[in-house]
Amino acid sequence: MGLNVAVIGIGHVGLVTAGTLARMGHTIVGIDDESAKIEGLMAGRVPFFEAGLSDLIRAETGAGRLRFCSHLEAAVAGVDVAFICVGTPGRSSGEPNLLAVEGVATALGRSATRDMVVVEKSTVPVETAKRIATVLARASRHTFHVASNPEFLREGRAVQDSLRPERILVGANTERAHEVMRQVYEPLIAAGVRYFATDVATAELAKHACNAFLALKISFANGLARVCEASGADVVTVADVMGSDSRIGRAFLDAGLGWGGSCFPKDLAAFRAQSARLGYHFGLLEEIQKLNEEALQATFGKIKEALWNLEGKRVVLLGLAFKPGTDDVRAAPALRLARRLIESGASVVGVDPRAGPAARSQVPALEIAEDAYAAAAGADCLVLCTEWPEFAALDLSRLKGMATIPILVDARNLFDPAAVADAGFAYLPTGRPARP
Ligand code: UDX
Repeated sequence: MGLNVAVIGIGHVGLVTAGTLARMGHTIVGIDDESAKIEGLMAGRVPFFEAGLSDLIRAETGAGRLRFCSHLEAAVAGVDVAFICVGTPGRSSGEPNLLAVEGVATALGRSATRDMVVVEKSTVPVETAKRIATVLARASRHTFHVASNPEFLREGRAVQDSLRPERILVGANTERAHEVMRQVYEPLIAAGVRYFATDVATAELAKHACNAFLALKISFANGLARVCEASGADVVTVADVMGSDSRIGRAFLDAGLGWGGSCFPKDLAAFRAQSARLGYHFGLLEEIQKLNEEALQATFGKIKEALWNLEGKRVVLLGLAFKPGTDDVRAAPALRLARRLIESGASVVGVDPRAGPAARSQVPALEIAEDAYAAAAGADCLVLCTEWPEFAALDLSRLKGMATIPILVDARNLFDPAAVADAGFAYLPTGRPARP
């Protein structure tokens, strides 16, 4: 039987969670205090791009299983389960700002009319559930069971990842919470999805461990790229060889401009800060971040070396989103590179199938071009920053014809080196032999 569920915080995670839980047969109210966003959703407008999400939301609101509301108090009165999906932005210390989580817990406590399971879905440091439980207990006489249910969804594949996850992780310290959470995920459990039921701290920690380890793999590949560039070896082949060992795996070993996005930078910093708070200096986490900085610096250095003086040079960035398949530019390596180039006096033109408007609002000095050919007119250097498949299909000879200086820096190793050289570009890939 379906449950009454509130999803509080309608960002990327919250909206996908709301749509997915509705698809599983529960009755969902999505709550956000940004009334413009809620009004838009009620009119069928999804506030960001995510493959398949608009269709999912439209279908579920149409079926009457999903509605939206901007007033928490009225909306949560009769719910069995409340998912907290609000943002946890990083502070300069690396710790996440959990004020919104606390605010929701207080509001939930004040509004609850019966016992409830409260689920932290936002990525939070280990021990946050304890804090949430304290706040709830202070605000209400009802019994709350706090569970941790981290999401592992990737942007661009979030709907798919949520409807067919590799695993579900639920941490709780009471039998009642586990029982209700099994009911929440019953359709997926029945479909054979692996289900981990743990204590709260283990679930909270596992999420940070996963993201830190994925970032570690990428940073390791970026460290390798530096050694490959110095020695003439090819990092792509090294990664293929490593990846063919099933104990290692090939995924997340692509060297490039480094990792960005809304999760890895913030989660790494939070994990590091929380480990330190708990009395353990997790030095490896610092090294992972340092290697990520070096990856950006290496590409910047390549451009500078190729162009000699950057002042007055026109540099084209192909790709601005933090990865393909999204319009998200949060902590996007391409934008960090754009800022450095602009600070050094270059004029920078960006092109991206989706992220142009978001990029322009983040970096006002960045010129946004309609397409790669328009951007390449008069270019002194092209830099592939995000490996959108659209860029792999570009006519390289045509691009070469438009550029003033035909240099292509491939910061994601998207192109076939021979094809780039045949088109007449000087080709500078990442961690592979250059074709100057
Ligand atoms: C990540 C996790 O994958 C997901 O499980 C978690 O829930 C949220 O954080 P996401 O931020 O959507 O998801 O992006 P992801 O696909 O993991 O890529 C992160 C960054 O790493 C991107 O900037 C990407 O370009 C970069 N990356 C990824 C590499 O540089 N090399 C790789 O081999 C893989």
